[in-house]
Amino acid sequence: MAVTSATWRPDSWRERRALQQPAWAEPAAAAASVARLKTSPPLVFAGEARALREQLAKAIDRRAFLLQAGDCVESFNELSTMRIREKLKIMLQMSAVLTYGATLPVVKVGRIAGQFTKPRSDEFEVVDGEEIPSFRGHMVNGDEPDAEARVPDPRRMIEGYNQSASTLNLLRAFTKGGYADLTQVHLWNKDFVASSPEGRRYEALAMDIERALAFMAACGIDLAAERRLHEVDVFTSHEGLLLDYEEGLTRQDSLTGDWYDCSAHLLWVGERTRGLDDAHIEFFSGVHNPIGVKLGPAATPDDVVALCERLNPLRVPGRLTFYARMGADHVRDLLPPLLRASRDEGHPVLWASDPMHANTIRTADGVKTRRFDTIMREIEGFFAACWQENVWPGGVHLEFTGEDVTECLGGADDVVEEQLSTRYETLLDPRLNARQSLDLAFRLAELMRR
Ligand code: PEP
Ligand code: CO
Repeated sequence: MAVTSATWRPDSWRERRALQQPAWAEPAAAAASVARLKTSPPLVFAGEARALREQLAKAIDRRAFLLQAGDCVESFNELSTMRIREKLKIMLQMSAVLTYGATLPVVKVGRIAGQFTKPRSDEFEVVDGEEIPSFRGHMVNGDEPDAEARVPDPRRMIEGYNQSASTLNLLRAFTKGGYADLTQVHLWNKDFVASSPEGRRYEALAMDIERALAFMAACGIDLAAERRLHEVDVFTSHEGLLLDYEEGLTRQDSLTGDWYDCSAHLLWVGERTRGLDDAHIEFFSGVHNPIGVKLGPAATPDDVVALCERLNPLRVPGRLTFYARMGADHVRDLLPPLLRASRDEGHPVLWASDPMHANTIRTADGVKTRRFDTIMREIEGFFAACWQENVWPGGVHLEFTGEDVTECLGGADDVVEEQLSTRYETLLDPRLNARQSLDLAFRLAELMRR
């Protein structure tokens, strides 16, 4: 099932225009890092990426729903068991709400174990009157606001690989080792969430799930023997931005002979780097992982069809996901023509909503934030556009954290502007906190039932 063109190679992107790449100070050191990655074990296996592709294929035609979420950017300084577990907990909680509320399997994909690079609109920022290079994620440079920290260092790619490996190891242990067991559904509710209205609502739902399990056991079903009640699949994803790194982790699958980018199960191409003839689309046209592409308000129906042809010429369902990130005020008008374009050409596409990236605002004090209501409004607009075109609204792509941060405004918890500084910890974009995420899941389940 090779999609790969005769001219494609893991390094063929180097002949194209590559946007948003760091200018490494020492090209030889960068080449050494890439060479080292090429001899390192893959982080994920081709078979796992194929399993995800099959699950995503179900989300195209109403048989599943994609929940993709995690940090805007992960941090080298936050590799703690606790933080990873908290992220997994909220993912499992949201997923329980959606699975139970909408009676559909939820495909769980983290922005995790490799989300260490960021595209930037501005190459420089001004700090204390001095112009310094922008922060591009810990796999490229440091976030400290001084010129020295911002020098891109290719050794960071090795550190990023190592951190991804430890994160993934813990994630695999949690998801396969009993923590994600459905009989633990109460344990996923955290103290600071449990006391809130959405936390109590979750408690009631967890009780229903417990009763349903007890009922099945009473009917003689051997719950202990049913693996699917005790383990879950949580897949990994990140923006495939830093092509040196992605090339370094690309391997040829011994079973099929196809190329896979073994840095994560799913890779997406950002709004700023999706040029049809540019390096990123060239690179991701050749690897066989499930691929996502962000589509902002400027995307045209022709862009959609051209990306489909280029990234999925064999029309494999689950291979290609588009994330609409149009803005709450525009999605209802801008999305339908794009949905029609892929549908009329008969391309299998999973359509998902990224309600975060076109709804970022600044407060009067200059703090970057997002309003919970605006995020919900974009999701509702996305659903409305999909229903109108008879396309299944197949998923959401969110930025959240398991912590009790105050980065987004509103939600049942009602974070107000004055509170933003209380716990504002993100390295870049404002994330939903655990309560806001759970609140969003309940509203999403209601939308899906409609
Ligand atoms: C992101 O997902 O963090 C991001 C930068 O998104 P976009 O490419 O849609 O702006
Ligand atoms: Co972001």
